[in-house]
Amino acid sequence: MAQKEDFEIIIIAGVAKNNVIGNKNQLPWHLKEDLQHFKELTFGNPVIMGRATYLSILEYLGKPLPGRTNIVLTKESDNKPGFIFVDSIPKALETAKKHGEKVYIIGGQSIYQQLMPLADKLEITHIHRGFEGDTFFPEIKADDWLEIKTQDCKGEQFEFSFSTYEKRPSAIKPNKKGMFITFEGIDGSGKSTQIRKLVEHIFNKSKYHNIILTRNPYKNVNIREILHQDQDPYSQAEKLADLYITDRINQTKEIITPNIEKGHFVISDRYKISTIVYQATQGLDMQSLVNKQSILPKPDMTFIVDISAEEAQRRMQNESIEVRGKEHKFEANLEFIKKLRENTHKVKEVLHDEKIFIIDGARSRDEITKEICEIFDKEMENLN
Ligand SMILES: NC(=O)c1ccc[n+]([C@@H]2O[C@H](COP(=O)([O-])OP(=O)(O)OC[C@H]3O[C@@H](n4cnc5c(N)ncnc54)[C@H](OP(=O)(O)O)[C@@H]3O)[C@@H](O)[C@H]2O)c1
Repeated sequence: MAQKEDFEIIIIAGVAKNNVIGNKNQLPWHLKEDLQHFKELTFGNPVIMGRATYLSILEYLGKPLPGRTNIVLTKESDNKPGFIFVDSIPKALETAKKHGEKVYIIGGQSIYQQLMPLADKLEITHIHRGFEGDTFFPEIKADDWLEIKTQDCKGEQFEFSFSTYEKRPSAIKPNKKGMFITFEGIDGSGKSTQIRKLVEHIFNKSKYHNIILTRNPYKNVNIREILHQDQDPYSQAEKLADLYITDRINQTKEIITPNIEKGHFVISDRYKISTIVYQATQGLDMQSLVNKQSILPKPDMTFIVDISAEEAQRRMQNESIEVRGKEHKFEANLEFIKKLRENTHKVKEVLHDEKIFIIDGARSRDEITKEICEIFDKEMENLN
C-alpha cells in the first residue's frame, strides 16, 4: 500500500453489469437498499467526490451529505457552505486525513479512475443488469483485487450484490518471486521475538501472504546431540560445520527454494552466517566457510540482532532451564561469545554483496521491531 498504514482509502460505487455508473450526471437506477448501505458505510467519515458528482448531490439533496466531511475536487473556485473545495488529489487526501482514519471515494468516473491505484479497498454494489449510460467504472482486475466478501440481495426491480474487494499486495501477484529473509544473532539477542513481530507485520499488510518459518538446525538431530555432548566451545568444529552445511542444503531443497518459487515469504531462524561466525570462532577459516556455502541461495535480506556478550549471557541466565534447554556449548563461555560478536561484525565484509542489516538489539523490543519493519518495507518496495 502506498499510503500511510493507518489511513485507508476506500472506493464505494454502484456498478451495473455493463460497468455503467451514471447517465447525464445522474444515477441510472434508484435502489433504496444501496442508498442505505452507502450511508451506513460512509457515515462519520470524510468523502471525496468530483465536481460533477457534487453537482448531482446538490441537485438531489440540496445540501452536503450529512454527518460526513464533504471534499470536492475541482480546478474551479467555489465556496458552497458545508463543502471543502480542493484542486488536487494530494490535497484532497491530506484534508481527509485531518478528518478521519479512512476516506470514502464516492465518484464519479474521473475520480474512480485516478484513485483506483491508490485505493486499499473497494465496496461495490454490483447491479445484476445493464443500464444505458455515459460514465463507467474502471475494470476490477483479478490480479489486483481479491473479493473477500459478497452478499446477494433481491431488490424490487432487479437483483444486486454487495461485494468487498481488498487490494492484493503486488508481492503476491502471480509470477512474482517470493522473498527469503534470515535472522541471525547470538542466543539471548531476542531474534525469535523479532521474527514473530515481522511475521505479524507481513500478515497485517495482507492476510493473503503465505509465510513459511524454518530454522537451523533443520532436520539433523545429531547436531543437537553434539551441542550438548561437552562444554568445550572449541571442540568438533569441522564436524559441526559439515553437518550444518549438509543440513542447510537439504533445507534449501525441501523448504526454501520451492516456497520462494511459489511466491511465498520464507523466514529462517539462523542460516549460513551462523556457521560462518560460530565455526570461525571455533578456529576454522572464515573465507572457506563462506566458499563452502556459495551454492546456497542468497537471502533477500538478513537481520543480525546484535547485543553485547554480557547482556546476552545475563538474558540467558534469567531464562528458566525449561525455556532455554540444557546449558549451551557456546553461550556458556563469555570469552567465546565476545569473539563470536567480533566475528559477527566481520561478516558484512566477507559477504559484501549481500543485504545484511546489523540491528542494535540493546533497545526496547518495539524500537527494534520498528526498525526491522521499516527496512523490510523499503526492501519490498525496491524489489517490486
Ligand atoms: N454509480 C455510482 O456509484 C456513482 C457515484 C458517483 C457518481 N456517479 C456518476 O458519475 C457521473 C460523474 O462522473 P464524471 O467522471 O463525469 O465526474 P466527476 O468525477 O464526479 O467530476 C469530474 C470533475 O472533477 C474535477 N476533478 C477531477 N479530477 C480532478 C483533479 N485531479 N483535480 C482537481 N479537480 C478534479 C473536475 O472538475 P472541474 O472541471 O470543475 O475542474 C472534473 O471535471 C455522474 O453520472 C454520476 O451520477 C455514479
